[in-house]
Amino acid sequence: MQKTLHIGQTLRFTASPFHMVPTDAAVHDSRGGVLVAQGKIAALGTAGDLRAAHPDAHEVDHGEALILPGFVDAHAHFSQTAIIASWGKRLIDWLNSYTFPEEIRLSDPDYAALIAARYLDLNLSNGITTACCYTTAHPSSGTALFAQAQSRGLRLLAGKVMMDRNAPDALCDTAQSGYDDSKAMLERWHAQDRLRYVVTPRFAPTSTPEQLEAAGALWAEHPDCLMQTHLSEQREEIAWVAELFPRARDYLDVYEHFGLTGPGSVMGHAIHLTEREWQRISETGTAIAHCPTSNAFIGSGLFNMARAQSLAIPTGLATDVGGGSSFSMLRTMAAAYEIGQLSGTAIHPAQLLWLASEGAADALRLKGVVGTLSVGAEADLITLDPASTPVIAQRVTDARDIWDALFATIMLGDDRAVTSVHIANMDKSQTTDLSDG
Ligand code: GUN
Ligand code: ZN
Repeated sequence: MQKTLHIGQTLRFTASPFHMVPTDAAVHDSRGGVLVAQGKIAALGTAGDLRAAHPDAHEVDHGEALILPGFVDAHAHFSQTAIIASWGKRLIDWLNSYTFPEEIRLSDPDYAALIAARYLDLNLSNGITTACCYTTAHPSSGTALFAQAQSRGLRLLAGKVMMDRNAPDALCDTAQSGYDDSKAMLERWHAQDRLRYVVTPRFAPTSTPEQLEAAGALWAEHPDCLMQTHLSEQREEIAWVAELFPRARDYLDVYEHFGLTGPGSVMGHAIHLTEREWQRISETGTAIAHCPTSNAFIGSGLFNMARAQSLAIPTGLATDVGGGSSFSMLRTMAAAYEIGQLSGTAIHPAQLLWLASEGAADALRLKGVVGTLSVGAEADLITLDPASTPVIAQRVTDARDIWDALFATIMLGDDRAVTSVHIANMDKSQTTDLSDG
């Protein structure tokens, strides 16, 4: 059996850094090793111990680089790759001005395939090895994304956007066709290799009650799938939902009414929540995808991470490309830190890293599968250069410890810090060396 031993600095969590002193939740090895066999992590330890125990392993020495599990992006719109960083709008205007016109373009399967390839390339160059994606309303764009992810051996979660009102006709399905097309895509792709289907009503304003009911029915028929949607991102959106669903107690209540909350339900944003909504998200085991660059870029507001953690709500970090303004999970962690600071909480680098890996995986019901350096986990690995730019290099020369050094890369780093990506799959381990030359 072919074994590969990756050597470098390693950093792994033994518990959530939100549940204890953050640094006590992680183990750092300045000369550690990760043994990979058959696409899974087979052993962890010091480089010396692993070398002695597995002399037959093919060794890859990453030097000073930090070996981590690939980042997990809990919420992104692959279809918005080409319109990332579009100027000057708040949510509803941004959807109408930039997003919907671009999503109409993805009705062309060739264009959808081009964007899917571009999106996955950008993810990999940023060390994102698992993402949970919205496609568009057209089944062909989901097909393009799933097919490209499958051919690259990637773990990917995605679903066809269901929307049957308040959007251009060219993007609207119906309650019935949205159900039928989603079901067909689910049956074609869910649990094929590393792919999973996600039931995806876009958000309450673009679905009729009949469509939300159909989404709830589809999810109930396939409870091993996830369900994703958007919740309480902007105040204008919340007011609109109150008009559209006058009998609902609040925004979350719309989703609760149609069976769209609970374990496996992932709510994007969740910024402006009432006390009842916080309690119900927690009680029902619903997860949240925190999208900090998006929340700043579209002007949505400050997510309350401390509250989410105190209520034990599964929470993962997300780029929310293209409302989010970066493909970089490092930039996303930096934005989460800044939003934490604006809310009175300094999120520790261990917590930021956890949110971008294990936390996001847990929110996506992939605990122990990806996003973790643990024996038995899938071996999607990345390496980070701890001194990837001159400003980071000078900042870390006198770093107090690994957290001080890592924080510099979190705040100042981008795709230049990601030097290699290793994708595990059943029978081969693909490696991409991203370093210059
Ligand atoms: N709410 C509904 N659709 C979207 C979207 O595409 N992006 C963001 N950020 N919010 C949404
Ligand atoms: Zn989104």
